[in-house]
Amino acid sequence: MSVLHKILGNIVGRKNPIADTAQALPNNTKEDSMDTSTTQSFTLRNNEDGSEFTLPVLKGSVGPSVIDVRALYKQTGMFTYDPGFTSTGSTDSAITYIDGDQGILLHRGYSIEDLASKSDFMETCYLLWYGELPNKQQKEEFVNTVTNHTMLHDQITYFFRGFRRDAHPMAIMVGVVGALSAFYHDSTDITDPKQRQIAAMRLIAKMPTIAAWTYKYSIGQPFVYPKNSLSYSGNFLQMVFGVPTEDYVVNPILERAMDRIFILHADHEQNASTSTVRIAGSSGANPFACISAGIASLWGPAHGGANEAVLEMLEQIGHKDNIPEYVARAKDKDDPFRLMGFGHRVYKNFDPRAKIMREEAHKVLGELGVNDPKLELAMELEQIALNDPYFVERKLYPNVDFYSGIILSAMGFPTSMFTVLFALARTVGWITQWEEMIEDPSQKISRPRQLYVGHDQRPYTDLASR
Ligand code: ACO
Repeated sequence: MSVLHKILGNIVGRKNPIADTAQALPNNTKEDSMDTSTTQSFTLRNNEDGSEFTLPVLKGSVGPSVIDVRALYKQTGMFTYDPGFTSTGSTDSAITYIDGDQGILLHRGYSIEDLASKSDFMETCYLLWYGELPNKQQKEEFVNTVTNHTMLHDQITYFFRGFRRDAHPMAIMVGVVGALSAFYHDSTDITDPKQRQIAAMRLIAKMPTIAAWTYKYSIGQPFVYPKNSLSYSGNFLQMVFGVPTEDYVVNPILERAMDRIFILHADHEQNASTSTVRIAGSSGANPFACISAGIASLWGPAHGGANEAVLEMLEQIGHKDNIPEYVARAKDKDDPFRLMGFGHRVYKNFDPRAKIMREEAHKVLGELGVNDPKLELAMELEQIALNDPYFVERKLYPNVDFYSGIILSAMGFPTSMFTVLFALARTVGWITQWEEMIEDPSQKISRPRQLYVGHDQRPYTDLASR
């Protein structure tokens, strides 16, 4: 039993009336927890008094080992200092593995290239949540469960209507997803694995409906209800682009492209939004609130908001002839301008997702017969940046967002919807990481420390004397 369960077991005990609906699903089977201990260690020496401390090394299945500093404060009275957590492992995890130098991304051991070319988003969701690829029957059951949860509580339509029409769709997403906890009380008891599973299925299932409705609301069109005869991605396209007065025919190339975009964004280990979800969840907050926190974090232009920023940047650059000026600005330390869609905290090689997305961009533009000058501009920018020593030396390759914005724009999505699509796809990753955190017996409330550089204690001065 995890520490969180022990604390919360006494506090939350609401019975879940629909728990049985998830019984047809297999239990969440994470990989067997492996023994991470090693005989390796580091000695930390205080050069002032010569005192020494031993820090054990923990080893994962693949990738860099970690130095276990958990006992450091007790031993030395000091914390480690690592703003932005660039050198800190916050957890052990068996979900996603990234080798940023080699450009490798694996989910549960399967490469993103295999998943994008051989799998589909539903199967990838199953893989992330359960840890294994489904057999035929498991997949059918999973798709059925997700499909049967696509509708939203009808009262939620009134919640949407409370927003201004010009609200950013991500603002609506943060609000509506957080508000799900006010609609689905029967899946907020985090001590009950079945309730957690139902919350996960609800989130995966309802996210396309919420995402599509943020768009419909912004353009003043009626909400289009989910159609359970369609695939997850096809249904999403019809809720976004369909209207009640006409039949919407799903284009299979766009349906596949949408599905692939979802696969490519499904999870990405301990990034800013995922860590936000875990941190929010570490206090015992309910899953809907935690995912809403993840959406808020994803919104920023340095993270999920980058594909929106790429399109804005391409519009700002305007013409090929202006590229050198903007590249020079990106390199100028006194200019805040950065080339959006370039660089990544982890990938110091071509992001494998960007390679797949690049191919997909050409396929979609070919299918739609789009001759978008922005694409030409993007390709020119890509070539210039890939050959410029500033970008080469810093290993600043185009990232997945550089291409996703171009495809989504060609498919007819407004830029304000790009991050919404990312949030939709990432929900399965967030909820799986949240589940892993809840199940982890060693997990505690996340509480980083600081190096305090403010005033020492000082006497209070009365207002009259200031
Ligand atoms: N344009 C110009 N210079 C850049 C860029 C960029 N896009 N990205 C990094 N640099 C430079 C920095 O100025 C720094 O240079 P210096 O060493 O001379 O000081 C060096 O490259 C390292 O940059 P950091 O900011 O330290 O790298 P970090 O790993 O912290 O940042 C980040 C990664 C935030 C993604 C950054 O590259 C960036 O802002 N890129 C643009 C935004 C973007 O595309 N974000 C999407 C991320 S992918 C995703 O969320 C799916």
